[in-house]
Amino acid sequence: MSSQQLQLARPLKHLLFLGYRLLRKTSFVKEILSQVPEDAWREYLIRDFIYGDYGAAYGISAQTKRDLVRQFERTLTVVPSGTSLLVHLTLARALLSVPPDLKGDVIECGVWKGASSCSLSLLCQLTGRRLLVCDSFDGLPDTGLELYDTPHLGVYGYLTGGMFRGRFDEVSSNIKQFGAIEACEFVPGFFKDSLQNLKRPLVFAFLDVDRYSSTQECLQAIWPNLQEGSYLFSDDAAHMRIAALFFDQQWWQSNLACPAPGLYGAGSGLPLWPTGSSIGYTRKLSRFNPNELRRVSYLYYPEHEPMH
Ligand SMILES: C[S@@+](CC[C@H](N)C(=O)[O-])C[C@H]1O[C@@H](n2cnc3c(N)ncnc32)[C@H](O)[C@@H]1O
Repeated sequence: MSSQQLQLARPLKHLLFLGYRLLRKTSFVKEILSQVPEDAWREYLIRDFIYGDYGAAYGISAQTKRDLVRQFERTLTVVPSGTSLLVHLTLARALLSVPPDLKGDVIECGVWKGASSCSLSLLCQLTGRRLLVCDSFDGLPDTGLELYDTPHLGVYGYLTGGMFRGRFDEVSSNIKQFGAIEACEFVPGFFKDSLQNLKRPLVFAFLDVDRYSSTQECLQAIWPNLQEGSYLFSDDAAHMRIAALFFDQQWWQSNLACPAPGLYGAGSGLPLWPTGSSIGYTRKLSRFNPNELRRVSYLYYPEHEPMH
């Protein structure tokens, strides 16, 4: 742009800005703008998934990820689901970040009609891993009426036996249609029985099991098999009692002989929407690894000059 064009462009820019400031005061524009942060953040997360380097180590291109987003969306328009596109993308980002040379499979506990299994199975197919699809295929266990409250999300209700029932035929037919059934191994039954003999390296886990006791059963079976550094996601992170389980030193020491790992997103979920979400994660990290973290100017490092 020449300096003459620049001189003309500047007043025009000011005029447009003034117009925008005036328009911003009208209730119609205010209403539109109030929607923007949520939409902008959603678009950012989708673009970050497509153009970020997630999956690059597996040779997965931006076009393949764009197709994945479309496939996830298609599944979610047809298959009833307790999870949304942004949750599926969150799982996809983490799963595609698992180093290819880390050997092991992916486990999903709590599938309902199989919507999340469809997305996870496509990711497993792309990364050459098996997906263990674990569910009673008969809904929640009948362990009584249980309060399910997520105070930060402002929601409460009750769980009862048989809720979220997705029959095996229904789930497998959904995965055949919208996922990659070849990548799946089904583990039917209630977790306290079906996961008892679980013994294989796992690099990623997704729990969406609603009940406190079901979360305990999954953690007890999965954690010993989880490879160092691996992610375990829970879609019950906004449930305070379930979130607290991840910080319960006594429970972890007596059941898994290790310190409680904590939960990112505990109580309010990861920031997928301005209000939070239901999903959180933890990682199996037995030791502190400073190479994964950054240093900052406001903290002290003993081997450097002392801070004043
Ligand atoms: C909220 S649904 C899962 C939703 C699913 N992830 C989705 O994206 O649509 C919870 C599932 O957990 C299963 N479940 C919960 N506790 C269980 C247990 N102890 N044993 C087996 N299945 C269990 C239920 O059968 C149900 O399918």
